[in-house]
Amino acid sequence: MKIITVSYRLPLSIKKSKDNVKITQSAGGLATAVLSYSEKSNVDLTWVGIADFDKTTWENNKNRYDKNFEVEPVFLEKQLNRMFYNIFSNSVLWALFHYFPSFVEYTDDGFEAYKKANEIVAQKVSDIYEPGDIIWIHDYHFLGLPHLLRKLQPDAKIGFFLHIPFPNFEIFRILPNKVKKYILNGVLGSNVAGFHTWDNTIHFTECVEKILGVPHKNFIFSQESHRTKAGSFPISIDFDKFHEAYDNDRVVTLRKEIKELYEDKKIIFSVDRLDYTKGVTNRLKAFEKFLKKYPEWSEKVVFLLVLVPSREEIKKYGERKRMIELSIGRINGNMGNYKWTPVVYQYQPVNFNKLIALYTSADVALISPVRDGMNLVAKEYVASRKDLRGALILSSMAGAAKDLKEAITINPFDAEMIADKLSYALNMNEKEQEVRLERMQRYLKKHDVFNWATKFLNETEKIHKLDSKSTQL
Ligand code: ADP
Ligand code: G6P
Repeated sequence: MKIITVSYRLPLSIKKSKDNVKITQSAGGLATAVLSYSEKSNVDLTWVGIADFDKTTWENNKNRYDKNFEVEPVFLEKQLNRMFYNIFSNSVLWALFHYFPSFVEYTDDGFEAYKKANEIVAQKVSDIYEPGDIIWIHDYHFLGLPHLLRKLQPDAKIGFFLHIPFPNFEIFRILPNKVKKYILNGVLGSNVAGFHTWDNTIHFTECVEKILGVPHKNFIFSQESHRTKAGSFPISIDFDKFHEAYDNDRVVTLRKEIKELYEDKKIIFSVDRLDYTKGVTNRLKAFEKFLKKYPEWSEKVVFLLVLVPSREEIKKYGERKRMIELSIGRINGNMGNYKWTPVVYQYQPVNFNKLIALYTSADVALISPVRDGMNLVAKEYVASRKDLRGALILSSMAGAAKDLKEAITINPFDAEMIADKLSYALNMNEKEQEVRLERMQRYLKKHDVFNWATKFLNETEKIHKLDSKSTQL
């Protein structure tokens, strides 16, 4: 028996330049979480996803990617992939599910490409499927896949997990009727439909009841061929990896460098993919407000802002980048001087050791998404603080706020509130830092990514078994 995990992004990306071929790890919460599970669990696992490289590059380089799981890339034709990924998945589903209805740019062609891509991937998964396997489908790119696979492999164990929010009925209903039905029927093809929070689970079940007229009993939808259970499974991180990294030699050296560079200053830190859902413009506005309201911090604080390039072909992402850069320029120009740059900005990826060095140098992590399914960065910051120093400011609009109860929560739209909480966090005494971090670390140690995956997969087996039993009777 093997696990077939299916996601748009493969864990690896291969980029060719004039003189070399570089294999890098994909960014984002999904890839990080599923990769941690895949690398450390002893299960037989095959990862299916869309290749961002061509067949020849794969054949020539696949032996360089040495992992304990198999990778099965799907090669989509360029135009189909663009319509599927940029036009429908990211300019319709991502925007709407994160409550940005005015950003939605729906086209029928985009929807047709989405359906086609789901069909191609369904066939690929069905081809490698063997009876007894568990098919674990991830995220908004593959909402139609559970249903398509149920038709191809009626007895399969199928789990679907959504890594982004599922919106409430009033937002979801904005989609054309055929799209709404395709999505809901699609997800109902699974044995388990998993979400980060109970709110999302309730939104999904309400939409199914109101739009498809299918009732549920204790979150179980009974259909002719099988049952689907909807439930909450908050994703998490490899706690030990982040906690133990504090003492890595390279991390220690890098941390020393950062601390020396800013020795007379406190550090505020944030890292995100550059995405309009992450609330970076709001965050900068609040930082500016903070500097104006608390001038005693002038020259005594620095905001290290790391943004990882993401979805650069999409217009809204380019626009957001320009807005952010204008804002940084304004703050540094108006508030800084020749000795002090208030916002230090990097639009480039950082590697793991640098990320940990930054997390563990920061006096405050400022995480302010306007909407986020979970937000793993918040959990990683907490886990990495083996020294029990630092304070976490976290948006109440992130799923993580439900798990990290000792974070300082903020409304990302309230600049005044964020400014005040920044002042509070920067002045927090060591005892309070310890108490808050200790409690959150205890929670994360228990609820790590292995616990998340195991619970989800066990539930999928359990619900599937209920149907196999009733067919045998
Ligand atoms: P999202 O999934 O929306 O990007 P999350 O906060 O849930 O947001 O997850 C982001 C993940 O990406 C984290 O696990 C973080 O460590 C990882 N990450 C951050 N910077 C980089 C980077 N430069 N390269 C690869 N992964 C990164
Ligand atoms: C979020 C999504 C993932 C996605 C990731 C990175 O975490 O839930 O499905 O892979 O962002 O985005 P990208 O578009 O680069 O895959």
